[in-house]
Amino acid sequence: VTYVRVSPAVLGFTAVEHSLADTVVVPTGYSVTVMTRLGDPLTAATSAYANDGTDTDFANRIGDHADALHYFGLSAAGAPDDMANTRGLMVQNHENITEEYLHPAGPTTIGGARPLDEVRKEIECHGVSVAEYVDSGNRTWSYVQDSSFNRRITPNTPMTLSGPAAGSAWMRTAYSANGTSGRGTINNCANGISAWHTNLTCEENWAGYFRRDSGDDANRTPAQLTSLQRYGVRSTNGNYRWSSASTTDTTITRWNATILGADATEDFRNEPFQFGWVVEIDPYDPTSTPRKRTALGRFGHEGAFVRAVAGQPVGAYMGDDSRGEYLYKYVSNANWNAGDADNADRLAVGDKYLDHGTLYVARFNADGTGEWLPLVFGQVPPRPASGSYPAYTFADQADILINPRLAADALGATPMDRPEWTAGNPVTGEIYLTLTNSNNSNRPVDGTNAANPRSYWNSGNPNGHIVRLREDGDTTAARTFAWDIYMFGADTLDCDTAFEQTNINISDLDTSNDFSSPDGAYFSRESAVSGQFNPVFWIQTDDGAMTDVTNCMMLAAMPGTVGDGNAFTVTNTDGAQTTTQGTHVGALATPASLRRFLVGPVECEITGVDMTPDGRTLFVGIQHPGERGDAGNVTSHWPESQTNASATSRPRSAVVAITKDDGGVIAL
Ligand code: FEO
Ligand code: CA
Ligand code: CA
Ligand code: CA
Repeated sequence: VTYVRVSPAVLGFTAVEHSLADTVVVPTGYSVTVMTRLGDPLTAATSAYANDGTDTDFANRIGDHADALHYFGLSAAGAPDDMANTRGLMVQNHENITEEYLHPAGPTTIGGARPLDEVRKEIECHGVSVAEYVDSGNRTWSYVQDSSFNRRITPNTPMTLSGPAAGSAWMRTAYSANGTSGRGTINNCANGISAWHTNLTCEENWAGYFRRDSGDDANRTPAQLTSLQRYGVRSTNGNYRWSSASTTDTTITRWNATILGADATEDFRNEPFQFGWVVEIDPYDPTSTPRKRTALGRFGHEGAFVRAVAGQPVGAYMGDDSRGEYLYKYVSNANWNAGDADNADRLAVGDKYLDHGTLYVARFNADGTGEWLPLVFGQVPPRPASGSYPAYTFADQADILINPRLAADALGATPMDRPEWTAGNPVTGEIYLTLTNSNNSNRPVDGTNAANPRSYWNSGNPNGHIVRLREDGDTTAARTFAWDIYMFGADTLDCDTAFEQTNINISDLDTSNDFSSPDGAYFSRESAVSGQFNPVFWIQTDDGAMTDVTNCMMLAAMPGTVGDGNAFTVTNTDGAQTTTQGTHVGALATPASLRRFLVGPVECEITGVDMTPDGRTLFVGIQHPGERGDAGNVTSHWPESQTNASATSRPRSAVVAITKDDGGVIAL
């Protein structure tokens, strides 16, 4: 079979305008097929989803809040097939829930306690799903309800802790006295795809799910207390108050991390340290036990773009999505051997590349250079006391990997405006990082830096920007890099003064391509390439600043290369203060280089994107439509509203398959 990968040299579709409609809008000549939705059954025996709050058994249904996704091609024999365009396994994260729509009349509390059945349902709606997708001909996509590959991974699924922090005293719980195993994964946001056909799911805002009663602080060691505070494990309820349920079931009581006794293995005080990891899943083996890869560090993991080049270490680029947090890179000890891509013991290959390596954190210098600072025991000084934190001295490498935020503080890493997804250009190897936004209360003008230069009015950097970097020597092993700012978000309809046009709309956007709060980021796949391959860079938004004029969206961009942009100066204004930042290289967008491809339904976020290998089907995640409504006031009826203008049903997060009506390549 001769296979030719086609990708456009220029964008070939008509831009989609702003939209507040309750549908997924795509360019003329494209069609939308709704695929797996919240609640869709994943076994033959599971009932159809009633979508009225009475449904149960979410361990056998698609979870809520469709986030990052990846299409793993499947051969007729059920093995990985990188060229399979009509059959694959859709692996998707279920980051969170819209609690209101999961119960008949919204969530309830009886006598101060959450009902047990409501809590069980909410827990099981989180995690990851694997579902078989098929195209039965002429772009007729559907999922296979009774596929033996279908799987739900939930916060209750057994996990192995792997790598240098496994077995650390910090990881020991009543479930795992030796700290080498745990249960489940939660708040799975973006992802990473290994070169050996496994999925990396990333635990982001896990900290909020834990309850710690007010007396817990006094019983913690100074090290644990500093860690819990630095990571924001501060709630005295925990999200959705799960541990208020009246039960001795430890799958529920463990969400209360309060110290109960003298022995760490009697209670779940250490449960928060079992979360915040990158988790490797083998989607082709439904019986496999996922492995938490502790060598990649513990933080608010957004995603983990993996770069594997023969003869170089495997690199993983990872954002920590919280205001003022950092960009990290993991570098394996072993060099990538392309023969490992076909090893059927995929998690053993993961052991080789993801359990033995070095974690680095990024420092962005004002001159356009950058450094990767190693988070290695013996090379990290104590974190000095600052603010409410006492000084922190690291005990060993496990301590550093469990607390990389503290180690990165100590090394002087560069605080960023909420690092979200990372994506690598498959042709140039350059890495793109979305910085979604930062508000002024957390990042005043004097907290700006060269890579995060904007702060204006009383709103900080509400529209976000995208940074890109090129490793020196084009190797994942590089300790230095060059960087620039690829693009700044802006709401152009809000830029009605000369100051705003110059200092907010820095990238010269117009209404065909303006956007705010970039989040999802993805390059067209590189497959068997013949001739020129021009990967399109896809940008997805999770916006709160522009939703008065348009729902969240996805754009297609032609990426260029580090250093090819236009010089610019940012002048910041915050009350009486005016701060002039240095001049950096930027890129002026044009409708030819950046174009809006899709706008989603009401109150959704667009997150999760992949393509079939031939580039002719694009899969996109539509997350939490109608999230500001409630059971008595439903604000979106998507996806029913996609084809029925008088729909009345509750909204459901879902995956859509987008195809071109002439069967052509997307965006060509
Ligand atoms: Fe779950 Fe940072 O987005
Ligand atoms: Ca995100
Ligand atoms: Ca976001
Ligand atoms: Ca989200």
